[in-house]
Amino acid sequence: MRVVVKETAREAALYVAEKIISFVNDSSDPVLGFATGRTQLPIYEALVSAYKSGRVSFKNIRSFNLDEYVGEPQTSPYSYATYMHENFFDPVDMDRSRIHLLDGTAQDLQAEAERYENEIKDSGGIGLQIVSIGRNGHIGFNEPGSSLTSRTRVIRLSDDTRAANRAFFPADREPPNFAITMGIGTILDADMIIMIATGKHKARAIRDFVEGPVTASCPSSALQGHPATLVVLDSEAAEFLQRRQDDQRDRPA
Ligand code: GLP
Repeated sequence: MRVVVKETAREAALYVAEKIISFVNDSSDPVLGFATGRTQLPIYEALVSAYKSGRVSFKNIRSFNLDEYVGEPQTSPYSYATYMHENFFDPVDMDRSRIHLLDGTAQDLQAEAERYENEIKDSGGIGLQIVSIGRNGHIGFNEPGSSLTSRTRVIRLSDDTRAANRAFFPADREPPNFAITMGIGTILDADMIIMIATGKHKARAIRDFVEGPVTASCPSSALQGHPATLVVLDSEAAEFLQRRQDDQRDRPA
């Protein structure tokens, strides 16, 4: 795992955006795994601006999103589908038929999860998966306790995650209790993974993920065993890393 520490959150996001642009421009059939949340917003902003200035086109990419709330229609303003359309898909030249999203309102969520796994397989697998981390160490919505070999499935959200995501919902609406998410095993199948984390509130989770044991108590720690994972941090998220100096010396950015 290679760890790159940038000074600011903006620099970290721009660095990740450039990695995505190179991947798209260099691949004949780019399949991308996208994530949502606040950390990703400056990445999408940078991708949209690169598209508008003609540096990259997204019309040939295929995309798979990590997760979706259960019970939230894709047209709901609070769904991750809407987040993706507003922040990325609509402002760029994405081919709608190449966008893959989980449907949290599917009647048979187990079948929905299997459909998604099959679509990933049929696409040849994800070439570059982007993830961020929850304060409790989750990736996608794989909450602590998730099997490190888990596949796409329904999961109950922890109180901590619901509290962290409450700001996205109006005051009179509780965040959903359940989500459907790619599993950790599904994420690990990607050829390359880029994890981005920014801000002080992620520092503890980052320390556990990067330097702690591989354990289901910190689901992101499973990435330690992946052959091509790049971790991009700002200085605040990197604050508790003990071996930060070594990482920078041994593995220059
Ligand atoms: C949600 C997503 C996760 C993401 C997390 C981080 O929980 N399901 O995939 O890692 O948000 O969000 P933020 O970037 O807002 O901290």
